[in-house]
Amino acid sequence: MRFSSRLPWTAAVNRIWQALEDRRKAGLPLLDLTQSNPTRAGFLYPDAVRAALADPRVLIYDPAPAGSREAREAVARWYLERGYHVEPDQVVLASGTSEAYAWLFKLLCDPGDEILAPRPSYPLFDFLAGLEAVRIRHYSLRYDSRWSVDWETLMEAAGPRARAVVVVQPNNPTGSFLSPEEAERLAEFCVGRELAIISDEVFADYPLEAVSVPSLCIQDRAPCFVLGGLSKAAGLPQMKLSWIVLTGPATWRAEALRRLELIADTYLSVGTPVQCALPALLDAGKSLRDQIRQRIRENYHWLRSRCGENSAVTVLGAEAGWYAILRVPRVRSEEQWCLELLDRGVFVQPGYFYDFTGEAYLVVSLLTPPEELAEGMERLLDLAAA
Ligand SMILES: Cc1ncc(COP(=O)(O)O)c(C=O)c1O
Repeated sequence: MRFSSRLPWTAAVNRIWQALEDRRKAGLPLLDLTQSNPTRAGFLYPDAVRAALADPRVLIYDPAPAGSREAREAVARWYLERGYHVEPDQVVLASGTSEAYAWLFKLLCDPGDEILAPRPSYPLFDFLAGLEAVRIRHYSLRYDSRWSVDWETLMEAAGPRARAVVVVQPNNPTGSFLSPEEAERLAEFCVGRELAIISDEVFADYPLEAVSVPSLCIQDRAPCFVLGGLSKAAGLPQMKLSWIVLTGPATWRAEALRRLELIADTYLSVGTPVQCALPALLDAGKSLRDQIRQRIRENYHWLRSRCGENSAVTVLGAEAGWYAILRVPRVRSEEQWCLELLDRGVFVQPGYFYDFTGEAYLVVSLLTPPEELAEGMERLLDLAAA
């Protein structure tokens, strides 16, 4: 009996997860500085979230491949409230961003084709690509008080089998997004090489300062797919609804939409209850967005002031998103940092989890309740001083 080789199924034993598991089994206390599940981070969910699911229409099955008209109109309104004009016909619903990626890889790639993705970034890309028999080639983001695209690495990565460039904005975990000049240059690059852009904007509503995160949903030069979803936009990952907005030249868009609808029709995966509830969930999400924004901003600014100029630990500059990156002395490897911190009851993620090229970085979630973050950071700073 044979299995596919899409993934390296036998994951190497990871010492950090093993130590975490052992600690949990032993019932020892833990300050979890990686908590990025909004439903477990102490936010108040308004009653309107549950009420939204009581719609009598949930009893009727009326499948529509791209999603119900009303739900797609709600997504278009969501963009309008942010100053962007998107037609409901540009929107296709999926059951999560991961599924959206899988559909786009099926739409754009044959087995063996390549997708260009940033590094450091979201660790799931290799799995999502592997499951579609597609390869990820990385291009680099460079940090020099702010993150920017290393164009040379993008050009090097764009071989004959490349089909799309993924940009994550704001990026997880760097919290960076493309400057207007970078967005222009990327569109030009993609038009020149016949590549599509996949712009993952799930964290777009979470700038750390007053500025807003620009969306690629109104660019019309390059073929482009913009991703968003309830998971981050309303702090509701359990609802399993995301969207793809198609933007770019009109003839290309029509052709891409026709094919994407065929893929969506094959699965019809977005549940009726969440589609009916979408307008109300996006409205109710405002309360969550406000609470999350307040938490991440307070945590980020606290971290920056706590790890000031003379600190052994530096907090890299971030512009948006749910994460902060700590640069720690290279006196131990990232794995050793994580293991020794676990010994002291603190869980953080190693930079290599996100494919940082250098050492030593640790990643913490800005959703962490402030008291836990403060206590965890004191223990981390003690270790850095030891
Ligand atoms: C960059 C990025 N995209 C997508 C997702 C997942 O979104 P969803 O819950 O819609 O699959 C995450 C989750 O953390 C993420 O970091």
